Amino acid sequence: MQARDYAATEILRDERRVEIRALRPEDRAALLAAVSRTSDQSLYRRFFAFKRGFTDQEVDFYINIDFVSHVALVAVLEEDGRPMIVGGARYIVGQPGQAEVAFAVDDAHQGKGIGTALLRHLVVLARQGGLKELIADVLPVNTAMLKVFGTSGLGITTRQEPDTTHVVLQLS
Ligand SMILES: CC(C)(COP(=O)(O)OP(=O)(O)OC[C@H]1O[C@@H](n2cnc3c(N)ncnc32)[C@H](O)[C@@H]1OP(=O)(O)O)[C@@H](O)C(=O)NCCC(=O)NCCS
Repeated sequence: MQARDYAATEILRDERRVEIRALRPEDRAALLAAVSRTSDQSLYRRFFAFKRGFTDQEVDFYINIDFVSHVALVAVLEEDGRPMIVGGARYIVGQPGQAEVAFAVDDAHQGKGIGTALLRHLVVLARQGGLKELIADVLPVNTAMLKVFGTSGLGITTRQEPDTTHVVLQLS
């Protein structure tokens, strides 16, 4: 399956179904709505800054992606009979064979296994894209993100930086 057509279904801990699929250009409004439902603390953990407003240029950067050097997945739940984007994960290739990952799940839907599912499918695409490593800088207080990485089954090394924990996940 082409990365930009990727779609899979997962069953969460509460037995609800979540669709994990490639981000589409038409998701722009739904993605911004998800950001607006996300707390300052969660946004800080994602962006390392108190970030809430995004310029059109920034949104373009997050939405118009090539699915080779920049790959993004969203998690879609059925809420009140309508699909709702509740989280997303992406990777951006830096040096050859290595990409940096970032995740965000809106607060109401954290702790249900969505971050874990997003990582699982991001890894499928990263391997398909020939990557060897995924890296991330995580705030040391962010035990949820560190747990998602730690329970992924991937080889993991961590290095303590002054303000962050640098995580390297081995894909092969
Ligand atoms: C980090 C994040 C993406 C994890 O996604 P998630 O869907 O909550 O993760 P999961 O449900 O797969 O849970 C992973 C583990 O973290 C725990 N967890 C999730 N949210 C938590 C929270 N707010 N506080 C404490 N633990 C939490 C879960 O209980 C689970 O642990 P368990 O397996 O022992 O039960 C999500 O919490 C989030 O968006 N946080 C804010 C943004 C962020 O930190 N991004 C990462 C930047 S690198």
